[in-house]
Amino acid sequence: MSLIEKAAQRLDQLKQASGEPADEPVVQPGAATPAAEPVGLAANQSSEVPKAGGHTFSRVVSRVAQIDLQRLDALGMVTPDRPRSSTAEEYRVIKRPLLRNATATGAAKVDDGNLIMVTSALPGEGKTFNAVNLAISMAMELDYTVLLVDADVSRPSVLRQLGLPPEKGLMDVLAGDVTDLSEVLLRTNIEKLSILPAGMPHQRATELLASESMTRLLEQMASRYPDRIIIFDSPPLLVTTESRVVATHMGQIVMVVEAERTTHAIVRQALATIESCPIKLMVLNKSRGQGPGSYYGYGYGYGDAPREQAA
Ligand SMILES: Nc1ncnc2c1ncn2[C@@H]1O[C@H](COP(=O)(O)OP(=O)(O)OP(=O)(O)O)[C@@H](O)[C@H]1O
Ligand SMILES: [Mg+2]
Repeated sequence: MSLIEKAAQRLDQLKQASGEPADEPVVQPGAATPAAEPVGLAANQSSEVPKAGGHTFSRVVSRVAQIDLQRLDALGMVTPDRPRSSTAEEYRVIKRPLLRNATATGAAKVDDGNLIMVTSALPGEGKTFNAVNLAISMAMELDYTVLLVDADVSRPSVLRQLGLPPEKGLMDVLAGDVTDLSEVLLRTNIEKLSILPAGMPHQRATELLASESMTRLLEQMASRYPDRIIIFDSPPLLVTTESRVVATHMGQIVMVVEAERTTHAIVRQALATIESCPIKLMVLNKSRGQGPGSYYGYGYGYGDAPREQAA
């Protein structure tokens, strides 16, 4: 049994002994409160387990970020309050094969299928918008718990897109400033959606993302949470190299392609950088002509070339 599993087991025992409640009140980000359930995992095998009163146990802390759902709705994003909005319908189509691959068993099983990276060739194509909407849409499903990771550490924008202030996160774990991932995981008022923020700006952000500790962290996430869908927002493939490294650990990649901007040649070039990932799915973003008055819309396809944009 690993150190992490032992700590989690010990925490369970302590919880049972003390009759600790299973839930905690919702608070604004920034105000740390102890969590009753072990939502986190240690960043590496040697992470310290704090001591208290002579007993060794893992003091798991998580916080709950309050997302303004009305604001999301006003921005045309998916919200649990409007499961039948046109955006929600579009993401229902997009997420379906991703979920199928993530949960496939037997011969159809996709290795690390629950690790999904959202990327694109160029900046500004809509990676973060799609990653956030996909994560919310999946979390609205009965059977799925979702962790949204902001792996665009040089230009983090997941929290901003959700109207939340910057928080510690991935960088702080990789830099060793935070030893337990649970310290920086944010639960949200969207049930079953947690966020791992990018964290504080770090001079060696790129190196850290491509580091051995990132590999270990990803492996731990995949094995610790096999039943959890983990969605990674990432930097553009042709501008930086981080996404290519992260891509090597992913079971599935969603390639966002901005309609009327990104050419086939550019998309092909970007796809060539992520050959190692077995499953690549394409989302045609910001497409006109998906319905009267609609500016943004989605196309969808598999394979090595983007689906032709609808006229
Ligand atoms: N389908 C869409 N509908 C409405 N707004 C969108 C859509 N896609 C993207 N946007 C908006 O376009 C802008 C750029 O999108 P986003 O930040 O998601 O791109 P990105 O690829 O993550 O950019 P970067 O490479 O800088 O990280 C944002 O303001 C976002 O809200
Ligand atoms: Mg982005």
